[in-house]
Amino acid sequence: MRRRGVYVMLTLCGVLTTALIAFLVLFLTGGQGANASGAPTVRVELSHSQGEVLGNYGFTAWTNQMFMQFRGIPFAEPPTAELRFRPPVARSPWTGTLNALNFGQRCPVITNLDGQLSDAELEDCLNLSVYTKNLTASQPVMFYIYGGGYYNGSAEDHPPNYILEKDVVLVVPQYRVGALGWLSTYTEELPGNAPIADILMALEWVQLHINHFGGDPQKVTIFGQSAGAGVASSLLLSPQTGDSLFKRAIVQSGSIFASWAINKDPRAQSMRICVQLGCSRCDEEDQLVECLRNAKVLDVLRITTTESFSPIVGDLQGILPQQPSELVKSYRRQIPLLTGFTQHDGSFVLASYYDALAAKVSNVSSLTVRQFSQGIYDLNNDTSGLTGNTLNRLLFKREILNSHDHSAAVPSYFDLTSTIFMKSPVITLATRIHTLQPSTPVYLYSFEYEGKYTRFGYEFGNSHYPFNGGVHHSNDNIYLFATHTLEGQDMQMSKKMVEVWTSFAIDGIPSELSPLTSASGPYNQLNLEITKEEDLLETLTSAIDDPENGRLQREDMEF
Ligand SMILES: *[C@@H]1O[C@H](CO)[C@@H](O)[C@H](O)[C@H]1NC(C)=O
Ligand SMILES: *[C@@H]1O[C@H](CO)[C@@H](O)[C@H](O)[C@H]1NC(C)=O
Ligand SMILES: *[C@@H]1O[C@H](CO)[C@@H](O)[C@H](O)[C@H]1NC(C)=O
Ligand SMILES: *[C@@H]1O[C@H](CO)[C@@H](O)[C@H](O)[C@H]1NC(C)=O
Ligand SMILES: *[C@@H]1O[C@H](CO)[C@@H](O)[C@H](O)[C@H]1NC(C)=O
Ligand SMILES: *[C@@H]1O[C@H](CO)[C@@H](O)[C@H](O)[C@H]1NC(C)=O
Repeated sequence: MRRRGVYVMLTLCGVLTTALIAFLVLFLTGGQGANASGAPTVRVELSHSQGEVLGNYGFTAWTNQMFMQFRGIPFAEPPTAELRFRPPVARSPWTGTLNALNFGQRCPVITNLDGQLSDAELEDCLNLSVYTKNLTASQPVMFYIYGGGYYNGSAEDHPPNYILEKDVVLVVPQYRVGALGWLSTYTEELPGNAPIADILMALEWVQLHINHFGGDPQKVTIFGQSAGAGVASSLLLSPQTGDSLFKRAIVQSGSIFASWAINKDPRAQSMRICVQLGCSRCDEEDQLVECLRNAKVLDVLRITTTESFSPIVGDLQGILPQQPSELVKSYRRQIPLLTGFTQHDGSFVLASYYDALAAKVSNVSSLTVRQFSQGIYDLNNDTSGLTGNTLNRLLFKREILNSHDHSAAVPSYFDLTSTIFMKSPVITLATRIHTLQPSTPVYLYSFEYEGKYTRFGYEFGNSHYPFNGGVHHSNDNIYLFATHTLEGQDMQMSKKMVEVWTSFAIDGIPSELSPLTSASGPYNQLNLEITKEEDLLETLTSAIDDPENGRLQREDMEF
């Protein structure tokens, strides 16, 4: 809630300042004017007679530069009715001026549904937002793919006021999330990976139209975080990604090599959901399709709150025709890559595992440390037990493993969850690509700054956990998108992050970072100062090796 409050504050400041400069703007360039209520607006004509869009103004966070914003430009037809689950269809041209003054509808999420809207309106979410300072320039384009566990996320959650301090154009497309995007039966009607196809279509839109917004279509950087990292790394490996769509990539916290990044049995999932919708004959393809396609948005969302969704291998569009571990073998792109994780990127998995366990076992501490960690390995489905055996040896002292001393094990739990779910998949992506294409730079980072704000417990609160969140998953984004009011060192950190990310987008070299020279390193620790460290596998033991790791345990609460 705090985040929304801050965002509203930013918007309000924008509106006030807007009034002050309205006069100035009116006389700047053609295409700019004012709407009926006197607020300044700007018109842009798209290519190929697609139509005209009307935008307005925002202001950067630190130097109050004015930028133009076009929020909610549709790039695809609403994926509703017979288009539901199907690859996106390009938006047909419109006549007159289309208002892009506010964000379009987010793709349906159970917690954010507007009950007044019809399903067709709710599903009309394939809009993108463009932020730019100069319509006639030719600036590098940063194309952000949001995270949200493949079931959440929106353009609105990513205010541009830090990134627009630099001379770049920011594009934030929306893509389908949850069942309405990811369900598949490997058939024409439910081909799979529709959300990745949404992103591909938005990238094509950028190629066609971004020059009208002052962006250079030859200089597009994709960046994605968490589930968005899964999508961004899929685009890197996919044979369906044309070579001109983007020239650099940033993959934050996760990759398509993670076990959570691929849905192994979407067909069974589709049938399960069909049955839960109360339909009959869910084992017959046409009945199944009819059921899923005609289901009310609210019903689909309501019965899928405990399902997880993600990309699939073998979709009919050929986006991921083989396992990522196979696809990477023929990787030939020359795309500079910046990838990494937060220092304690897995602590959110520890938290949700803890919640799930506490719901089943009345006293979590009655489990031994070994039993507790086994449950985490089980989430990863490694049937050989190799992961568990090796990580038990690496991360736990022998005497702790058979004890109930969970407090002492907290740093080990941090390293274990971070390694399995985030760090190892990122390191695999980075080192496989570096090894195959040594002449293309790969930069690896560990984000280690601990500031005032955290995303720990953002959704459900964090006061009930017997541990703290550390440098939590998504905390890096606090410094890239203007969701909080940052001061002092936090603002300095934000300036550093924006400098690194945008310098990479501008010339392919992230300011102050060192590229991999071998599969062992070096890597870069991102903090108020950036430091180069030689051995990247040291990141896997970063919590247990930390002399100050006592702060990860809660002082006021027994585990
Ligand atoms: C005029 O622009 C303001 C801000 O740009 C917007 O909030 C308002 O809805 C617009 N009014 C009309 C009539 O389009
Ligand atoms: C997507 O954006 C377009 C243009 O602003 C708008 O017409 C459309 O209604 C938006 N979709 C929703 C559901 O808001
Ligand atoms: C989705 O994200 C929004 C905005 O961050 C949040 O308000 C909402 O609670 C989230 N929904 C779920 C189901 O996590
Ligand atoms: C916008 O970009 C053009 C082309 O680079 C340049 O000539 C112009 O001065 C820029 N305008 C502003 C306000 O910076
Ligand atoms: C929970 O289990 C631990 C370890 O067996 C034990 O020390 C503790 O007293 C138990 N707590 C409760 C409330 O039963
Ligand atoms: C892990 O395996 C179990 C049992 O085979 C299965 O039900 C579950 O879906 C699997 N989870 C993942 C993430 O593959």
